[in-house]
Amino acid sequence: MNTIITIDGPSGAGKSTIAKLLAQKLGYTYLDTGALYRAVAWKVRHDNADPDDSGRLQDLLGKIDITLSENKIIVNGTDVTSMIRTPEISELSSKVSAVPAVRKHLFKLQREIGLKGRVVLEGRDTGTVIFPEAENKFFLDAGPEERGRRRYKELKGKSPEATLKETIDGIKTRDERDSTRQSAPLKRTDDMIYIDTSNLTIEQVIAKIMGSLKIA
Ligand code: DC
Repeated sequence: MNTIITIDGPSGAGKSTIAKLLAQKLGYTYLDTGALYRAVAWKVRHDNADPDDSGRLQDLLGKIDITLSENKIIVNGTDVTSMIRTPEISELSSKVSAVPAVRKHLFKLQREIGLKGRVVLEGRDTGTVIFPEAENKFFLDAGPEERGRRRYKELKGKSPEATLKETIDGIKTRDERDSTRQSAPLKRTDDMIYIDTSNLTIEQVIAKIMGSLKIA
């Protein structure tokens, strides 16, 4: 289990950037687990399904085929890589991620990928539920305003209608939902190394993580 690295934390804490770079540096596979929830949300929207209709969701999960390769995410043959990054899909993915059947379905997929080893998993429950036995667990954090600013910068190019206030409000709403849901809420545990990234550069965060890795 010592070649499994988990990085959890709220949205905008820098998880994706850091996890991707770390994986590159180590020559590990990078698994963006949020992209899987986003893929399910995209399919829900695409099929015009009601996310509150559990029967319909079960049916959809039975038919969904998610493939990750070369930084691309394919859902039933469609490349959804950029389509899953809109504010609408962010909101819907937070909603569908609270549904136990969705989590159960994606649990299996994440375990399969992770058990191959030499992997950096990044998400909300990778160190608590998906790989509680991992020996390298991190929790990245930052204040909601700073996280909102970061997300807004990313979004501006893709969604010109987005505003900073709306982005920060969206982050706060998702934080609340992600950490209070019944099923696998976002949680920091004592065996995770906590890093507040608010005043750190990307390089400083990477250095902190590299300095505390226990890998054979
Ligand atoms: O990290 P992200 O913003 O791409 O994640 C999208 C949503 O998916 C987020 O609101 C919560 C959910 N998610 C989750 O519940 N568990 C994970 N391991 C990753 C993401």
